[in-house]
Amino acid sequence: MQKGLFITFEGTDGSGKTTQLNLIKEYLENKGFDCVVTREPGALDFGKKIRDILLNSDENISDNAEMFLFLADRAQHIDKFIKPALNDGKIVLCDRHVDSTLAYQGYGRNRDVEMLRKLNNIAVSGVIPDLTLLFDVSEENAAKRLDRVKDRMELSGKEFYNAVRRGYLLLQKEEPQRIKLIDANNSINIVYNISKELIDELISRKSGE
Ligand code: TYD
Repeated sequence: MQKGLFITFEGTDGSGKTTQLNLIKEYLENKGFDCVVTREPGALDFGKKIRDILLNSDENISDNAEMFLFLADRAQHIDKFIKPALNDGKIVLCDRHVDSTLAYQGYGRNRDVEMLRKLNNIAVSGVIPDLTLLFDVSEENAAKRLDRVKDRMELSGKEFYNAVRRGYLLLQKEEPQRIKLIDANNSINIVYNISKELIDELISRKSGE
């Protein structure tokens, strides 16, 4: 039986989700919760090597190879880190998870979304986020925020960005109970307040169960 809570943070590059994740960690810790922060790809040593190939390789990585690398990272991460943390009763805050694969490899790279769902199911072996915060931001605002050297994924271009963004919005419409849409064009503070409310709601719902 899972005792902890699993919360994932999703959105396009430049959506500000990592900033929010760190603010939420502080918020929950101040309330006395035992929280761990993690991310995909690349939380564990195994994943760091995969992350390096995925984000920094000069080689022309095929779309299928990319897909399997993200999934391999996830399978290891779930078994060796996320599941044990949830069994210990921790709140796990994860920067990207299954929905990134559906949005990026599915809607962005045109891999079959239903096939990706099946592969995701194998990788996560029954662990499903209790809540997913989706930070949605316009392409213009994301570009302003990403004013630094870009990695291999971020160099995929405007069209790719917009396909990923649309993909995320479709996923949210399909699962509105789990995935909560947040307009991340707003200021950090507004976005933080909305995120806090959603997390408080989840915690009070779960403690009443
Ligand atoms: P990262 O530097 O972690 O970006 P961010 O800070 O925006 O999360 O790089 C992760 C990149 O990998 C990001 O562009 C999204 C992409 N990605 C996928 O394409 N599929 C996946 O399944 C995951 C987890 C990430």
